[in-house]
Amino acid sequence: MKIVVTGGAGYIGSHTIIDILERTDHEVVSIDNFSNSNEDTFDRIEEITGKRVKNYNIDLTAYKTLKEEFFEKENDIDGIIHFAALKAVGESVEKPVKYYQNNLNGLINLLKCVQKFDVPSFIFSSSCTVYGNVKVQPVTEDTPTQTPESPYGYTKLVGEKILSDFSKTKAAFHALSLRYFNPVGAHMSGLNGELPKGRPNNLVPVVTQSASGWIDDLCVHGTDYETRDGTPIRDYIHVSDIAHAHVLALEYLQSGKAAANYDVFNLGSGTGVTVLEVIQAFEEVSEIKLNYTVGPRRDGDVEIIYANNQKAKDLLHWEINHSIEDAMRSAWKWQQYLNEVKSGDKVHHG
Ligand code: NAD
Ligand code: WQD
Repeated sequence: MKIVVTGGAGYIGSHTIIDILERTDHEVVSIDNFSNSNEDTFDRIEEITGKRVKNYNIDLTAYKTLKEEFFEKENDIDGIIHFAALKAVGESVEKPVKYYQNNLNGLINLLKCVQKFDVPSFIFSSSCTVYGNVKVQPVTEDTPTQTPESPYGYTKLVGEKILSDFSKTKAAFHALSLRYFNPVGAHMSGLNGELPKGRPNNLVPVVTQSASGWIDDLCVHGTDYETRDGTPIRDYIHVSDIAHAHVLALEYLQSGKAAANYDVFNLGSGTGVTVLEVIQAFEEVSEIKLNYTVGPRRDGDVEIIYANNQKAKDLLHWEINHSIEDAMRSAWKWQQYLNEVKSGDKVHHG
């Protein structure tokens, strides 16, 4: 099969490319404009898999370029995995138009090309943010969605709706939205991981970068929640487990087993973990004591969310192979790799 990965230079896209190359014979082509990544990712993918992936540096919001420079050149595409999006929740509140423009126009332009070039399968990166603040946990795919607080989150909810509506118009087209919970960790080799531009916002890169002295403030945002230790509960899931789910999702779509033209799956570990438990897991595997302060609650944070992942287990035959300790160990290994090569300027960040 020939698979197009958009956002292939990014965190989850690159791990998915590695999984595809390590476990299948599929050909992979990437589209990434490096707005939140850089071309070094493809060197790292090659180091791990021994294979070089071709990337087209195209902005998905430029329809004419996408059609002429990509789809008219790359024929017979069997599936698209669409990761490319902007994902910083806080920035999306400050610059909503940038997020709607990038995330929605990118998706719409891709679907116009799917229509024109008859691509049969499509996988969309969605997020647990579409569930909002829910009392009953864990959430299943039947838990009603709510309008997310941030423009970023809203692009995911609207993106799902656009894809669902589009799927109804094409009998030979099948699509899935995969709702990721909190992807964390790095490739177990420590050679590929998350490298956000600028200061990270997500807990695990904040933890690893503060342990390395790249940033000097680790703040726990709120200890007054109604949870076992007062800090919010999330569902942290190793990025390589998330990555492999895409390979299984492609198989599921190609096998003709999908009953409907469009469906959604939760991708979470099924276990809720507090912020302090994440910090403790990191301290145990790294043998480093973290210095952190306690601050007020962060705007927009929900108290508890974790997944019921039974549907992905039953229909995609997804298994979770990595623990929270594996996630911390690999994230730390990756951070140490970055520390080593930083002085040699082999990895560019920020
Ligand atoms: P990432 O920023 O590391 O990767 C996204 C990639 O897409 C980047 O390399 C970026 O350069 C590229 N890109 C963005 N806009 C583009 C455009 N218009 N044209 C071409 N390339 C473009 O993010 P990630 O963590 O790998 O996330 C991948 C997807 O998963 C995103 O859609 C994100 O919203 C979704 N998601 C992520 C998380 C998470 O916590 N990481 C959770 C839920 C959902
Ligand atoms: C986890 C917990 C913070 C940083 C975000 C998006 C969501 C999805 C996943 C894309 C929270 C606490 C964090 C810090 C802290 N992404 N924290 N100090 O907010 O669950 O989800 O990423 O779709 O849409 O909102 O992830 O890693 O930012 O935070 O105390 O410096 O860690 O308050 O409880 P979150 P996160």
